[in-house]
Amino acid sequence: VRAMIVLGIETSCDETAAAVVRRYDDTSGDERSGQGEILSNVVLSQIEDHAAYGGVVPEIAARAHVEALDGIIKTAMAEAGMRFDQLDAVAATSGPGLIGGVLIGLMSAKAIAAAHDLPLIAVNHLEGHALTARLTNNAPFPHLILLVSGGHSQILLVKGVGDYERWGTTIDDALGEAFDKTAKLLGLPYPGGPEVEKAALNGDSKRFALPRSMKGRDGYDFSFSGLKSAVRREAEKIAPLSDQDIADLCASFQAAICDILADRIDKALVTFSERFPEKKEPQLVVAGGVASNKAIRATLDTVLAKRGAKLVAPPIKLCTDNGVMIAWAGAERFALGMSDPLDAPARPRWPL
Ligand code: KG4
Ligand code: ZN
Repeated sequence: VRAMIVLGIETSCDETAAAVVRRYDDTSGDERSGQGEILSNVVLSQIEDHAAYGGVVPEIAARAHVEALDGIIKTAMAEAGMRFDQLDAVAATSGPGLIGGVLIGLMSAKAIAAAHDLPLIAVNHLEGHALTARLTNNAPFPHLILLVSGGHSQILLVKGVGDYERWGTTIDDALGEAFDKTAKLLGLPYPGGPEVEKAALNGDSKRFALPRSMKGRDGYDFSFSGLKSAVRREAEKIAPLSDQDIADLCASFQAAICDILADRIDKALVTFSERFPEKKEPQLVVAGGVASNKAIRATLDTVLAKRGAKLVAPPIKLCTDNGVMIAWAGAERFALGMSDPLDAPARPRWPL
Protein backbone atom coordinates (compact mmCIF):
# COMPACT_ATOMS: atom_id res chain seq x y z
CA VAL A 1 0.00 0.00 0.00
CA ARG A 2 1.44 3.35 -1.00
CA ALA A 3 1.59 6.06 1.63
CA MET A 4 3.51 9.22 2.40
CA ILE A 5 5.07 10.28 5.67
CA VAL A 6 5.12 13.96 6.63
CA LEU A 7 6.66 15.88 9.53
CA GLY A 8 4.58 18.88 10.66
CA ILE A 9 5.79 21.83 12.72
CA GLU A 10 3.53 24.34 14.54
CA THR A 11 4.88 27.46 16.28
CA SER A 12 2.41 30.21 15.42
CA CYS A 13 1.17 30.96 18.94
CA ASP A 14 2.06 29.57 22.36
CA GLU A 15 2.43 25.87 21.60
CA THR A 16 5.71 24.45 20.32
CA ALA A 17 4.61 21.34 18.45
CA ALA A 18 5.82 18.71 16.00
CA ALA A 19 4.22 15.52 14.73
CA VAL A 20 4.63 12.83 12.12
CA VAL A 21 1.66 11.45 10.19
CA ARG A 22 1.20 8.84 7.49
CA ARG A 23 -1.33 9.41 4.72
CA TYR A 24 -2.34 6.56 2.44
CA ASP A 25 -2.52 7.47 -1.24
CA ASP A 26 -5.95 7.96 -2.73
CA THR A 27 -5.06 5.18 -5.15
CA SER A 28 -3.83 2.77 -2.50
CA GLY A 29 -6.67 0.51 -3.55
CA ASP A 30 -8.14 -0.45 -0.20
CA GLU A 31 -10.33 1.09 2.49
CA ARG A 32 -7.39 3.13 3.77
CA SER A 33 -7.32 5.26 0.59
CA GLY A 34 -6.91 8.92 1.50
CA GLN A 35 -6.90 8.13 5.21
CA GLY A 36 -4.14 8.60 7.68
CA GLU A 37 -2.66 7.79 11.02
CA ILE A 38 -0.72 9.66 13.65
CA LEU A 39 2.79 8.31 14.20
CA SER A 40 3.73 10.86 16.85
CA ASN A 41 2.32 14.05 18.37
CA VAL A 42 4.47 16.20 20.67
CA VAL A 43 3.11 19.46 22.08
CA LEU A 44 4.81 21.75 24.57
CA SER A 45 2.47 24.40 25.96
CA GLN A 46 3.94 27.73 27.05
CA ILE A 47 0.89 28.64 29.17
CA GLU A 48 3.00 28.90 32.33
CA ASP A 49 5.46 31.29 30.65
CA HIS A 50 2.63 33.70 29.82
CA ALA A 51 0.22 33.27 32.75
CA ALA A 52 1.82 36.02 34.84
CA TYR A 53 1.12 38.51 32.02
CA GLY A 54 -2.50 37.51 31.49
CA GLY A 55 -1.95 36.68 27.82
CA VAL A 56 0.58 35.56 25.22
CA VAL A 57 3.65 37.83 25.08
CA PRO A 58 5.08 37.56 21.53
CA GLU A 59 8.74 37.99 22.46
CA ILE A 60 8.53 35.43 25.27
CA ALA A 61 6.76 33.04 22.89
CA ALA A 62 9.43 33.41 20.19
CA ARG A 63 12.28 32.80 22.62
CA ALA A 64 10.56 29.76 24.07
CA HIS A 65 10.05 28.31 20.56
CA VAL A 66 13.76 28.80 19.78
CA GLU A 67 14.75 26.96 22.93
CA ALA A 68 12.30 24.10 22.60
CA LEU A 69 11.72 23.40 18.93
CA ASP A 70 14.78 21.31 18.03
CA GLY A 71 14.14 18.98 20.95
CA ILE A 72 10.42 18.73 20.12
CA ILE A 73 11.20 17.79 16.50
CA LYS A 74 13.77 15.25 17.63
CA THR A 75 11.26 13.66 20.01
CA ALA A 76 8.51 13.59 17.37
CA MET A 77 10.85 11.84 14.93
CA ALA A 78 12.07 9.37 17.56
CA GLU A 79 8.56 8.52 18.73
CA ALA A 80 7.55 7.89 15.11
CA GLY A 81 10.66 5.73 14.64
CA MET A 82 11.67 7.82 11.63
CA ARG A 83 14.84 9.34 10.25
CA PHE A 84 14.65 12.54 8.23
CA ASP A 85 15.64 10.68 5.05
CA GLN A 86 12.56 8.45 5.45
CA LEU A 87 10.18 11.41 5.22
CA ASP A 88 8.35 12.33 2.03
CA ALA A 89 7.89 16.01 2.93
CA VAL A 90 8.22 18.60 5.71
CA ALA A 91 5.32 20.93 6.54
CA ALA A 92 5.32 24.01 8.75
CA THR A 93 2.83 26.69 9.68
CA SER A 94 3.78 29.76 7.66
CA GLY A 95 0.96 31.94 9.00
CA PRO A 96 -1.23 33.46 10.24
CA GLY A 97 0.20 33.98 13.71
CA LEU A 98 2.89 35.72 15.72
CA ILE A 99 5.69 36.48 13.26
CA GLY A 100 8.57 35.48 15.56
CA GLY A 101 7.18 32.04 16.22
CA VAL A 102 6.13 31.43 12.63
CA LEU A 103 9.64 32.31 11.39
CA ILE A 104 11.26 29.89 13.82
CA GLY A 105 9.10 26.94 12.76
CA LEU A 106 9.27 27.74 9.07
CA MET A 107 13.06 28.22 9.10
CA SER A 108 13.53 24.88 10.87
CA ALA A 109 11.37 23.17 8.25
CA LYS A 110 13.34 24.83 5.47
CA ALA A 111 16.63 23.69 7.02
CA ILE A 112 15.41 20.08 7.23
CA ALA A 113 14.03 20.25 3.70
CA ALA A 114 17.28 21.69 2.32
CA ALA A 115 19.56 19.29 4.19
CA HIS A 116 17.60 16.17 3.23
CA ASP A 117 16.37 17.27 -0.18
CA LEU A 118 12.71 17.06 0.84
CA PRO A 119 9.76 19.06 -0.47
CA LEU A 120 8.57 21.91 1.80
CA ILE A 121 4.86 22.51 2.39
CA ALA A 122 4.01 25.97 3.79
CA VAL A 123 0.72 25.45 5.59
CA ASN A 124 -1.91 28.00 6.54
CA HIS A 125 -2.64 27.37 10.23
CA LEU A 126 -6.38 27.75 9.61
CA GLU A 127 -6.23 25.11 6.89
CA GLY A 128 -4.62 22.82 9.45
CA HIS A 129 -7.62 23.27 11.75
CA ALA A 130 -10.01 22.93 8.81
CA LEU A 131 -8.65 19.59 7.54
CA THR A 132 -8.08 17.83 10.89
CA ALA A 133 -11.57 16.31 10.85
CA ARG A 134 -10.65 14.50 7.61
CA LEU A 135 -7.94 12.66 9.50
CA THR A 136 -9.94 11.95 12.65
CA ASN A 137 -13.48 11.56 11.29
CA ASN A 138 -13.09 11.15 7.50
CA ALA A 139 -15.28 14.26 7.19
CA PRO A 140 -16.23 14.44 3.49
CA PHE A 141 -16.26 17.68 1.47
CA PRO A 142 -18.12 19.99 1.57
CA HIS A 143 -18.66 20.75 5.24
CA LEU A 144 -18.83 23.73 7.55
CA ILE A 145 -16.30 24.50 10.24
CA LEU A 146 -16.64 26.67 13.31
CA LEU A 147 -13.14 27.68 14.38
CA VAL A 148 -13.06 29.39 17.78
CA SER A 149 -9.71 29.88 19.47
CA GLY A 150 -7.72 32.57 21.24
CA GLY A 151 -6.82 34.13 17.89
CA HIS A 152 -9.69 33.25 15.55
CA SER A 153 -13.47 33.08 15.32
CA GLN A 154 -14.59 31.99 11.91
CA ILE A 155 -17.26 30.08 10.08
CA LEU A 156 -15.78 28.51 6.96
CA LEU A 157 -17.16 26.44 4.12
CA VAL A 158 -14.62 23.73 3.36
CA LYS A 159 -15.10 22.67 -0.27
CA GLY A 160 -11.80 20.91 -0.82
CA VAL A 161 -8.11 21.08 -0.03
CA GLY A 162 -7.09 24.70 -0.62
CA ASP A 163 -10.70 25.54 -1.47
CA TYR A 164 -12.45 27.50 1.27
CA GLU A 165 -15.02 30.22 1.61
CA ARG A 166 -14.91 32.37 4.69
CA TRP A 167 -18.52 33.04 5.59
CA GLY A 168 -18.08 34.76 8.90
CA THR A 169 -15.40 36.19 11.12
CA THR A 170 -15.19 38.40 14.17
CA ILE A 171 -15.17 42.11 13.60
CA ASP A 172 -13.35 42.69 16.90
CA ASP A 173 -12.18 40.18 19.55
CA ALA A 174 -11.75 36.47 18.91
CA LEU A 175 -14.04 34.34 21.07
CA GLY A 176 -11.24 32.90 23.20
CA GLU A 177 -9.92 36.42 23.64
CA ALA A 178 -13.36 37.53 24.85
CA PHE A 179 -13.35 34.68 27.40
CA ASP A 180 -9.82 35.57 28.50
CA LYS A 181 -10.49 39.31 28.82
CA THR A 182 -13.75 38.73 30.67
CA ALA A 183 -12.00 36.36 33.07
CA LYS A 184 -9.26 38.89 33.66
CA LEU A 185 -11.65 41.71 34.50
CA LEU A 186 -13.39 39.40 36.97
CA GLY A 187 -10.06 38.54 38.60
CA LEU A 188 -9.90 34.96 37.25
CA PRO A 189 -6.54 33.52 36.09
CA TYR A 190 -5.28 33.03 32.51
CA PRO A 191 -6.29 31.27 30.32
CA GLY A 192 -9.75 32.43 31.24
CA GLY A 193 -11.98 30.18 29.12
CA PRO A 194 -11.95 27.12 31.38
CA GLU A 195 -12.21 29.36 34.48
CA VAL A 196 -15.31 31.12 33.15
CA GLU A 197 -16.85 27.79 32.26
CA LYS A 198 -16.19 26.43 35.75
CA ALA A 199 -17.53 29.53 37.54
CA ALA A 200 -20.62 29.59 35.30
CA LEU A 201 -21.66 26.16 36.58
CA ASN A 202 -22.72 27.76 39.88
CA GLY A 203 -24.15 30.93 38.37
CA ASP A 204 -27.52 32.32 37.37
CA SER A 205 -27.42 32.97 33.62
CA LYS A 206 -30.52 35.20 33.79
CA ARG A 207 -29.30 37.61 36.45
CA PHE A 208 -27.64 40.02 34.00
CA ALA A 209 -29.19 41.06 30.69
CA LEU A 210 -26.16 41.18 28.38
CA PRO A 211 -26.18 42.17 24.70
CA ARG A 212 -26.29 39.61 21.87
CA SER A 213 -24.33 41.58 19.26
CA MET A 214 -25.01 40.65 15.61
CA LYS A 215 -27.82 38.26 16.54
CA GLY A 216 -30.44 38.31 13.80
CA ARG A 217 -28.24 40.35 11.45
CA ASP A 218 -27.44 39.46 7.87
CA GLY A 219 -24.33 37.41 7.27
CA TYR A 220 -22.38 35.23 9.66
CA ASP A 221 -20.00 37.65 11.38
CA PHE A 222 -19.39 37.87 15.11
CA SER A 223 -18.72 40.70 17.52
CA PHE A 224 -17.71 40.03 21.11
CA SER A 225 -16.12 43.18 22.45
CA GLY A 226 -19.43 44.87 23.34
CA LEU A 227 -20.37 41.84 25.41
CA LYS A 228 -17.10 41.98 27.32
CA SER A 229 -17.60 45.73 27.96
CA ALA A 230 -21.14 45.08 29.18
CA VAL A 231 -19.78 42.55 31.69
CA ARG A 232 -17.31 45.21 32.86
CA ARG A 233 -20.09 47.76 33.37
CA GLU A 234 -22.27 45.33 35.30
CA ALA A 235 -19.30 44.30 37.44
CA GLU A 236 -18.46 47.92 38.23
CA LYS A 237 -22.05 48.60 39.29
CA ILE A 238 -22.05 45.85 41.92
CA ALA A 239 -18.36 45.90 42.99
CA PRO A 240 -16.89 44.55 45.23
CA LEU A 241 -17.78 41.20 43.66
CA SER A 242 -18.69 38.17 45.73
CA ASP A 243 -18.00 34.67 44.38
CA GLN A 244 -21.70 34.43 43.60
CA ASP A 245 -21.59 37.70 41.61
CA ILE A 246 -18.66 36.35 39.59
CA ALA A 247 -20.46 33.08 38.96
CA ASP A 248 -23.61 34.92 37.84
CA LEU A 249 -21.62 37.20 35.54
CA CYS A 250 -19.81 34.22 34.01
CA ALA A 251 -23.06 32.32 33.52
CA SER A 252 -24.76 35.34 31.94
CA PHE A 253 -21.73 35.93 29.68
CA GLN A 254 -21.60 32.30 28.57
CA ALA A 255 -25.34 32.24 27.89
CA ALA A 256 -24.98 35.29 25.65
CA ILE A 257 -22.11 33.61 23.76
CA CYS A 258 -24.19 30.45 23.29
CA ASP A 259 -27.12 32.51 21.97
CA ILE A 260 -24.91 34.32 19.47
CA LEU A 261 -23.27 31.12 18.25
CA ALA A 262 -26.64 29.39 17.91
CA ASP A 263 -27.97 32.25 15.79
CA ARG A 264 -24.95 32.37 13.46
CA ILE A 265 -24.59 28.60 13.06
CA ASP A 266 -28.29 28.09 12.44
CA LYS A 267 -28.13 30.61 9.63
CA ALA A 268 -25.04 29.01 8.13
CA LEU A 269 -26.74 25.59 8.20
CA VAL A 270 -29.76 26.92 6.34
CA THR A 271 -27.53 28.41 3.63
CA PHE A 272 -25.46 25.23 3.45
CA SER A 273 -28.56 23.10 2.88
CA GLU A 274 -29.84 25.45 0.20
CA ARG A 275 -26.54 25.24 -1.65
CA PHE A 276 -25.93 21.54 -1.15
CA PRO A 277 -29.39 19.91 -1.04
CA GLU A 278 -27.81 16.54 -1.85
CA LYS A 279 -26.05 16.58 1.56
CA LYS A 280 -28.75 14.93 3.62
CA GLU A 281 -26.81 15.19 6.86
CA PRO A 282 -24.67 18.34 6.78
CA GLN A 283 -21.60 18.24 9.01
CA LEU A 284 -20.32 21.02 11.24
CA VAL A 285 -16.76 20.52 12.39
CA VAL A 286 -15.63 22.40 15.50
CA ALA A 287 -12.03 23.34 16.22
CA GLY A 288 -10.05 25.65 18.49
CA GLY A 289 -9.69 25.73 22.25
CA VAL A 290 -13.10 27.28 22.88
CA ALA A 291 -14.72 24.26 21.23
CA SER A 292 -13.93 22.30 24.38
CA ASN A 293 -16.54 24.37 26.30
CA LYS A 294 -19.37 22.01 27.26
CA ALA A 295 -22.10 24.64 27.31
CA ILE A 296 -21.14 25.67 23.79
CA ARG A 297 -21.07 22.06 22.62
CA ALA A 298 -24.51 21.46 24.12
CA THR A 299 -25.85 24.55 22.34
CA LEU A 300 -24.40 23.40 19.03
CA ASP A 301 -25.89 19.93 19.53
CA THR A 302 -29.34 21.46 19.94
CA VAL A 303 -29.06 23.73 16.89
CA LEU A 304 -27.69 20.93 14.73
CA ALA A 305 -30.31 18.42 15.84
CA LYS A 306 -33.02 20.85 14.81
CA ARG A 307 -31.53 21.03 11.29
CA GLY A 308 -30.72 17.33 10.93
CA ALA A 309 -27.02 18.09 10.92
CA LYS A 310 -24.14 16.38 12.66
CA LEU A 311 -21.50 17.81 14.99
CA VAL A 312 -18.03 16.52 14.24
CA ALA A 313 -15.66 17.20 17.08
CA PRO A 314 -12.12 15.85 16.78
CA PRO A 315 -10.52 14.93 20.11
CA ILE A 316 -9.78 18.08 22.12
CA LYS A 317 -6.01 17.69 21.88
CA LEU A 318 -6.35 17.85 18.09
CA CYS A 319 -8.77 20.84 18.27
CA THR A 320 -6.20 22.99 20.06
CA ASP A 321 -2.91 23.84 18.34
CA ASN A 322 -0.73 20.84 17.50
CA GLY A 323 1.70 19.51 14.90
CA VAL A 324 -0.60 16.76 13.61
CA MET A 325 -2.93 19.25 11.97
CA ILE A 326 -0.01 20.83 10.12
CA ALA A 327 1.51 17.51 9.08
CA TRP A 328 -1.89 16.30 7.88
CA ALA A 329 -2.73 19.48 5.95
CA GLY A 330 0.77 19.25 4.42
CA ALA A 331 0.10 15.64 3.41
CA GLU A 332 -3.27 16.51 1.89
CA ARG A 333 -1.67 19.29 -0.14
CA PHE A 334 1.33 17.21 -1.17
CA ALA A 335 -0.98 14.39 -2.29
CA LEU A 336 -2.45 16.88 -4.77
CA GLY A 337 1.00 17.85 -6.01
CA MET A 338 1.30 21.09 -4.06
CA SER A 339 4.58 22.15 -2.48
CA ASP A 340 6.37 25.43 -1.85
CA PRO A 341 9.75 26.94 -2.74
CA LEU A 342 12.42 27.29 -0.07
CA ASP A 343 11.90 31.06 -0.05
CA ALA A 344 8.22 30.71 0.95
CA PRO A 345 7.49 33.72 3.16
CA ALA A 346 6.17 33.82 6.72
CA ARG A 347 2.78 35.51 6.58
CA PRO A 348 1.61 36.94 9.94
CA ARG A 349 -1.72 37.83 8.30
CA TRP A 350 -3.03 35.24 5.89
CA PRO A 351 -6.77 34.80 5.48
CA LEU A 352 -7.82 31.45 4.06
O1 KG4 B 1 -6.92 26.79 20.19
P1 KG4 B 1 -6.27 27.27 21.44
O2 KG4 B 1 -5.75 26.24 22.40
O3 KG4 B 1 -5.07 28.21 21.14
C1 KG4 B 1 -5.13 29.23 20.20
O4 KG4 B 1 -5.68 30.30 20.55
O5 KG4 B 1 -4.66 29.02 19.07
O6 KG4 B 1 -7.34 28.20 22.16
C2 KG4 B 1 -7.05 28.85 23.37
C3 KG4 B 1 -8.27 29.65 23.76
C4 KG4 B 1 -8.04 30.52 24.98
O7 KG4 B 1 -8.57 31.80 24.71
C5 KG4 B 1 -8.84 29.80 26.06
O8 KG4 B 1 -9.33 30.66 27.07
C6 KG4 B 1 -9.97 29.21 25.26
O9 KG4 B 1 -9.37 28.79 24.05
N1 KG4 B 1 -10.59 28.08 25.95
C7 KG4 B 1 -11.87 28.04 26.37
C8 KG4 B 1 -12.04 26.81 27.04
N2 KG4 B 1 -10.87 26.14 26.98
C9 KG4 B 1 -9.98 26.92 26.31
N3 KG4 B 1 -12.85 28.95 26.23
C10 KG4 B 1 -14.05 28.63 26.77
N4 KG4 B 1 -14.30 27.49 27.45
C11 KG4 B 1 -13.33 26.55 27.61
N5 KG4 B 1 -13.58 25.43 28.27
ZN1 ZN C 1 -5.07 27.47 16.21
